[in-house]
Amino acid sequence: MRTISVLNAKGGCGKSTLATGLAAALAWEGYQVALGDLDPQKSSSDWVAARPEEYPPVTGLSADDGPVRAPAGTDFLILDTPAGLSGSELGQVVRRSGTLIIPVLPSYVDIRAAHRFLGHLFELKAVAEGHAKVGLVANRVKPHTIVYRELTGFLESFRAPFVAHLRDSMNYVRAFNRGLSPSDLPAWRAWPDWEEWEELMSWVRSRRSVGKGG
Ligand SMILES: Nc1ncnc2c1ncn2[C@@H]1O[C@H](COP(=O)(O)OP(=O)(O)OP(=O)(O)O)[C@@H](O)[C@H]1O
Ligand SMILES: [Mg+2]
Repeated sequence: MRTISVLNAKGGCGKSTLATGLAAALAWEGYQVALGDLDPQKSSSDWVAARPEEYPPVTGLSADDGPVRAPAGTDFLILDTPAGLSGSELGQVVRRSGTLIIPVLPSYVDIRAAHRFLGHLFELKAVAEGHAKVGLVANRVKPHTIVYRELTGFLESFRAPFVAHLRDSMNYVRAFNRGLSPSDLPAWRAWPDWEEWEELMSWVRSRRSVGKGG
């Protein structure tokens, strides 16, 4: 089983959107997927609860009853984490993950916060020694804006690969509310999102995204 965590101490940068989107994309590929919600806000638990039966299933796991454990037969455990994750809680999430996905928004406040967060992350032994591999994702991108160009420069200069950019689209907002994500939407509505997700998924499928932690 692979464990992929979506994290960034900054609130509202798209952790739950990416965690649920990743769970749906992998479920469409035929994998058994569990989505662990470590956030007391329970956004991804709400998403699982709203997910219609006719779509590829994602098993929701809550942290209410102790540490999240995936059922036997799970291929991918995706962990959605809360804002403000730091210290020993951050360390625990990182140690149990082979892959870490960090969404960052194109805003100066978010870029500065991501700089600090990534600094802490790379000081952790599990990241420094390649136990967990990090991929950076620019989220809610509006192309041709100066701040997006600055975000691109920042992400490209970092020690981890810049693996995808996802556009700012109402598809995410509407789909989330119905327990869906871009992979679940029809092509005529979501083909630009599918193309962007393919960048992220090809990194997730590649060995480059798999740390020694699996
Ligand atoms: N690419 C996108 N396009 C448009 N809206 C988006 C996109 N990504 C996220 N959003 C919206 O931004 C808001 C915050 O996203 P989300 O809940 O995924 O962030 P989060 O990092 O999980 O937040 P929190 O730190 O509170 O857990 C939501 O309303 C979501 O629908
Ligand atoms: Mg969230």
